Amino acid sequence: MEYNFEYYKKAADYILKIVGHDVEIGLILGSSIGSVKEIIDVEKIIDYKDIPNFLISTAEGHEGKLIIGEVKGKKVVAMSGRFHYYEGYTFEQLSIPIRVFKLLGVKKVILTNAAGAINKSYKPGDIVLIKDHIKLTGSSPLRGKNIEEFGPRFFDVTDMYTERLRKLAKTIAKKESIDVKEGVYFFATGPQFETKAEIKAMGILGADLVGMSTVTEALTAAHTNIEVLAMSLVTNMAAGIVDKKITTEEVEEIGKLSRDKLKKFISSIIEAM
Ligand code: HPA
Repeated sequence: MEYNFEYYKKAADYILKIVGHDVEIGLILGSSIGSVKEIIDVEKIIDYKDIPNFLISTAEGHEGKLIIGEVKGKKVVAMSGRFHYYEGYTFEQLSIPIRVFKLLGVKKVILTNAAGAINKSYKPGDIVLIKDHIKLTGSSPLRGKNIEEFGPRFFDVTDMYTERLRKLAKTIAKKESIDVKEGVYFFATGPQFETKAEIKAMGILGADLVGMSTVTEALTAAHTNIEVLAMSLVTNMAAGIVDKKITTEEVEEIGKLSRDKLKKFISSIIEAM
């Protein structure tokens, strides 16, 4: 499959025709946050399956709809349902949502996820701003022929989770008495949770968190000059950090307990962006 500029443009043009205007901020919020519709004054909802050249959500709890509307007066596009490598997509396919966002006019994205804590000072329910990531999986969403319209072949990622947006988020957190931490996110492909030995290795390498999403989106955004703010909700201590098995139920339970805090935080950040 050749992903050229026209491929992404076809998807974006379909959306723009329905929506009739550009959007400024893109949101890809993990399913643990619940329904993203609750923070958006919804204008339009478009099924992924109706968008030409888009992907279809297969992950549980991920709805498969693109939502366009406003948050605190700012035009946003949100994915209700994100795409993960473990679903079987290629890395190249995982560039689609963010590149389509770019063509809708998006300048900044907020990405959230559920993650396991490697850092022992974290606890379930914590919000952690991602300051950097480690991805040792030997591929990238930017692999393949470069599309100059989106960005250069080689590109800098030293401040991809920009300090500017992290500072802004920290200021808001302080104002709203929300405790936030900062850490390094390790991209794991899943779908299995990690082995104890893997988590130990990740910790030695400098990771504070581990999860199965976000990094492909963040890299695609960085390539095309979209500013990224990413954060994790700690849903469990990673394998072997505590002597206990990881269950999907605990991941979902913590998500449910913390989603109101996270939603309020994200709305306030959007207002200030
Ligand atoms: N590992 C990977 N992904 C996750 C975890 C984890 O422990 N918790 C939530 N998402």
